[in-house]
Amino acid sequence: MIEEYTPLDSCKLLNLSTIADERGNICVLEGQTSIPFIIKRVYYLFDCPIEFQRGGHAHKNLRQLIIALNGEVNVRLDDGFKNREITLNSPTTALSLSPMIWRDIQFLTPNAVLLVLASDVYDENDYIRDYNDFQRQAIDP
Ligand code: TYD
Repeated sequence: MIEEYTPLDSCKLLNLSTIADERGNICVLEGQTSIPFIIKRVYYLFDCPIEFQRGGHAHKNLRQLIIALNGEVNVRLDDGFKNREITLNSPTTALSLSPMIWRDIQFLTPNAVLLVLASDVYDENDYIRDYNDFQRQAIDP
């Protein structure tokens, strides 16, 4: 049986190219070339206690790229049809998040820093914070 393509399949792990020499590494992210959208907002999460869960929402239109710059972060993705769990633990790996992906985020190490590049400015109306609402909209857009 051929598995149906759903929004989760468009969430990709990207290997970021690194400029390395004996002094250390540089990772470059350029909007519209290495990132498939224009970056309108950058934010980062840090000092997040490991006993709490973050996320717990989906975005209607926002596209994001997330990178664990330091430490380890677990991300559970769900598009209403399928789910997938990913541990981010490298500053050279980015995870792209498409619209309509429910995400639960757990910091696994207290030193973790999660960088988020976003396609738009903050808009609370773009959030779906109720899982049942999300599932309804995901199944019947
Ligand atoms: P939220 O996106 O729910 O956090 P996370 O997904 O990391 O758990 O945001 C937490 C709070 O911060 C919420 O009240 C909205 C606010 N916020 C802003 O005001 N601007 C922003 O750019 C972001 C990302 C959040």
